[in-house]
Parts: sequence; C-alpha cells; structure tokens
Amino acid sequence: MRALVFLAFFLYQCTVVQGVDFLIELHEVKSILKDQKALLEELKNQGQGNGCSCIAEIRYQLNELKSTVAEQKVKLEALQKQLADKPTVAFSASLIGHGGQTLGGYSTEEILKFQKVFTNVGGAYSSTTGKFTTPVKGVYYFSFTAFANGKSSMGVHLRKNGEQIVAIYDYNSNHKDVNGANRSVLMLEKGDEVYIGLWSSLYIFDSYNSVSTFSGFLIFPSE
Ligand SMILES: *[C@@H]1O[C@H](CO)[C@@H](O)[C@H](O)[C@H]1NC(C)=O
Repeated sequence: MRALVFLAFFLYQCTVVQGVDFLIELHEVKSILKDQKALLEELKNQGQGNGCSCIAEIRYQLNELKSTVAEQKVKLEALQKQLADKPTVAFSASLIGHGGQTLGGYSTEEILKFQKVFTNVGGAYSSTTGKFTTPVKGVYYFSFTAFANGKSSMGVHLRKNGEQIVAIYDYNSNHKDVNGANRSVLMLEKGDEVYIGLWSSLYIFDSYNSVSTFSGFLIFPSE
C-alpha cells in the first residue's frame, strides 16, 4: 500500500509538477520562436526590398555595357577593314648608286631616272621612266636630295603632272661641292605622276655614296 502511494505520488510529480514546468518552458520557447519569426520576416522584407532595386540596377548597367560593347565591336570591325584595305606604298632610290658619274648639260629639262632602287613597296615607282604613279588617291610625302661636285651648277625640282612644286639649286659653279634637299606633302589623285626634273644646262652627280636620291610614301589614303 505504501508502495502504491509512493508510486502515485511519483506519477503525480512527473505528470503534474513536471508537466507544469514543461508547459512553462514550452511557452517560453514559443514566444522566442515568435520573436524570431517576426525578426526573420523583417529581414526578409528588407532583403527583398534591397534585392529588387539592386537587381534592377545591375540589369540596367549590364544592358548599358552590352550596347557599349556592341558599338565598340562595330567600330573595331570598321577599323580592321580600313587597316586591311590600306594600300602600302613606299619607295626610295638613288640616281646611280655605284662608281661616280655626272649627268646633265642637256638642252631641255630631263626627267631623272633613279636607277638604284632601295625600296619599292607597291611598285608605284618606275626606274625606267623615273616616275612615281599614284596607285590610290591620298596624301603623300616626297623628298629628294641632289649633289654636284667640281665646277658644276646644280638645279632640280619636284614636279606633279608637269607642275613645278619645290626646287633646289646652286648656280655658283665656284662652290666645290653643292648639295641640297627638299620635300613636300601632296594631295594626289589616282594616276597622278610625280618625278624629279633636272633643269636644262645644269648638272647632278651620283656615286656609290648615293648622294642624289628620290623617295616617297603614302601618308594616308583618302576617299
Ligand atoms: C625647297 O623648295 C622651296 C620652294 O621651291 C624653296 O623656297 C626652298 O629654298 C627649298 N629648300 C632648299 C633647301 O633648297
């Protein structure tokens, strides 16, 4: 009987007393959970708000970048094409380029045929005619040097289709060595002819030193 009473008391302890404790604890846990739920809700709302504007901004920036890249691609392709289409034109030659020889004393002006060709990229210069023939419309640079020794007077000029452009000369035949150089930038049409003319009754000298020269190149083509 005593044991029974004890057991009953024990059961009471477990279910009622401890059950009350459980209830209190459960209640506390519930309220903590409730707080955390509210907190989570708050965070979620904040996150969603930020998330929305952030993603919209990133999308906008991405679209901007995409259109910039597309524009640059078009420009790059145009530049690539321009570079690929750009003709390469450059030449340089000296009048004789070996030994030593004076030319001149002619009764009329003579087109000089520069024989020793150093460079002729594009093949626009002809040592047979002495003429440079413009392969494409554009802006070109030309330079020339002339030398005369002994008692010779020297005079040459650059001509474009017969028109005199720039000259170098020295009529004083008392000068031992006479030399000069000149240059010009010309806007040329396709097929224009540029060459060096030796003035009538004047002289020019060249040797293995290549002191009398004619050079030119395309700076840029134009439409
Ligand atoms: C170059 O040519 C110009 C025009 O003919 C002339 O005035 C100038 O003196 C020349 N330069 C030289 C170094 O002869």
